[in-house]
Amino acid sequence: MRGRDLLSIAELSPDEMGLILRTALSLKRDGGGEDLLRGKTLALLFEKPSLRTRVSFDVAMAELGGHAIYLSQGEVGLGQRESVADVSRVLSRYVDVIAARTYSHETLLGLARHADVPVINALSDEEHPCQAMADLLTVLERFGALRGVRLAFIGDGFNVAASLAEGCALTGVNFAMASPDGYSLPEPTQRLISELATANGGTVEFFETPAEAVRGADVVYTDVWASMGQEDSYAARKEAFAGFAVTGELMSLAKPGAIFMHDLPAHRGEEVMEDVIEGPQSVVFDQAENRLHAQKAILALTTSDHEL
Ligand code: CP
Repeated sequence: MRGRDLLSIAELSPDEMGLILRTALSLKRDGGGEDLLRGKTLALLFEKPSLRTRVSFDVAMAELGGHAIYLSQGEVGLGQRESVADVSRVLSRYVDVIAARTYSHETLLGLARHADVPVINALSDEEHPCQAMADLLTVLERFGALRGVRLAFIGDGFNVAASLAEGCALTGVNFAMASPDGYSLPEPTQRLISELATANGGTVEFFETPAEAVRGADVVYTDVWASMGQEDSYAARKEAFAGFAVTGELMSLAKPGAIFMHDLPAHRGEEVMEDVIEGPQSVVFDQAENRLHAQKAILALTTSDHEL
């Protein structure tokens, strides 16, 4: 994977997914890797706010022997003060890898097209592949395998759901989803994940009610009803998503050993109730920690000069 971009989970083969997950687990459990990125620099180019993604990338670089430079939109003016192409070409002369968080996936594609170094998607309006890798790492740790696990996603068919669905389809996780009418995954993504799931021995199902999706699930996952950039439609979304909150009653329909997942930040009392996110089934902070380990693996595999 050396020199490769990571813009979408669907770009990865099942073998590459497995390699990233194994590398992440090894770095987490066994440590080491302090010299893998010695002398390397990561540019964190962020148009939007972040806690987890920014800090976990910065710490990942430090733990692998390199370092990170954070560049906010206010400083760089991506596409405003300077064209996306020129920002990308200039950064490629200074740094060894770029992680970019953009409003539009097109901006990310523009950065990747003009960069001479790997570009990693740190969230766009279509995908959040680093989150999905951390999510699957968390499921793998909990259940010892991915194939055959049933994951129910309740909520908005936006970037987090799209990458998670693709990751499930590539790894044999049975993916079930329930969303209000008009808020499911885009049709092309639905077709893509169905094809990937068929090829990799998994299933994809879409339901109208959360109860149908959650029944018999090993994992129940939700995300906010209005993501960054969707604030204007918050009131309409709150109305549309009524009845799609993850409550204790909904969790009781899942398997007894089921876990609750959320990419955070969470809106307690909206998409998830306080007793669920703070309850014994919740693994949301393990998920947040795993952003670090998954991204260490992605950075090492794309950017290190050393064999892993
Ligand atoms: N889950 C996630 O991407 O968190 P941040 O927006 O804080 O990076």
